[in-house]
Amino acid sequence: MLDKIDELLKEVQGFTSTNKDEIEQFRIKFNGKKGILNDFFEKFKEVPNEQKKEFGQKINTLKQAVNTKLEELKEATSSQVIIEKEDLTKPAFPLELGSRHPINLVKGRIIEIFKSIGFAVSDGPEIEDDWHNFTALNLPEYHPARDMQDTFFIEQNPDVLLRTHTSSVQIRHMEENQPPIRILSPGRVFRNEAISSRSHCIFHQIEGLYIDENVSFADLKQTLQFFTTELFGKSKIRMRPSYFPFTEPSAEVDVYWGLNSETDYRITKGTGWLEIMGCGMVDPAVLKNVNIDADKYSGYAFGMGIERIVMLLYQLGDIRMFFENDKRMLEQFGHL
Ligand code: PHE
Repeated sequence: MLDKIDELLKEVQGFTSTNKDEIEQFRIKFNGKKGILNDFFEKFKEVPNEQKKEFGQKINTLKQAVNTKLEELKEATSSQVIIEKEDLTKPAFPLELGSRHPINLVKGRIIEIFKSIGFAVSDGPEIEDDWHNFTALNLPEYHPARDMQDTFFIEQNPDVLLRTHTSSVQIRHMEENQPPIRILSPGRVFRNEAISSRSHCIFHQIEGLYIDENVSFADLKQTLQFFTTELFGKSKIRMRPSYFPFTEPSAEVDVYWGLNSETDYRITKGTGWLEIMGCGMVDPAVLKNVNIDADKYSGYAFGMGIERIVMLLYQLGDIRMFFENDKRMLEQFGHL
């Protein structure tokens, strides 16, 4: 009987199959209720006492060999199933590539243009105090021009607010630096305005500031002309007198867009001209507020809304699309 067990052990160790039915047959043959192992355990009682030890050890070895073999075959066949289902030679799933937000694309382009003529980027906080957003910019308390911008207040007396324009960064930068100053400050601004296709309570501006000796209005106009030519490919601009408390004189800048298509008519309201920014010579009162010698230095500042420019460049009709994060809209923009 012991020789019989040795023979069976060899059979078990030598068994191999990838066929599920064959494996099941094998299991039943050895491990089934009426299988070989149970049969041996039955016979164990009849084995003479002095042989019990050796016999017991042999059937245990056989039992272990059967179980190990079944485990092995189970593992091999289950990974085989996966291999059958999935073609591992197939190329991997393509990763979905994101794209830059159109606002960031245009912002980057504007920064590039001004960098090429010596401007550096300077940031400021979105949560501001009254001094940097209003008072230092020559908008004292009760100044009617404060009503031009509907402000989101976080706290009052003393006021903490969401900046209504990037002009606050002018003040922050001039407080820390003496001329010559050439900075560009892009960022988010907030105004308590009704949301429509043309205006939103959150939008982006880019501010420019240039302070040095002998800076004139002609420098401002030249710079803006260079900028509009680079960005739009249009060099004809006009400056209309305007008012900002922190610049004197102040102007609105229009670009001549032309009247070549029906869209041109629509977006320029039939005039051919498009307003793109506000600007002016920095008011000496502002320079005094930041301890810059207004007799020695002069300069200009300008501020433009980025969304308007993106809408122009990409022919988008609704400002709300910028904030909806709809991938179908966003993925249409590659690089400018
Ligand atoms: N801060 C002004 C606005 O938000 C724009 C501006 C900036 C005008 C700099 C003049 C100079 O409307």
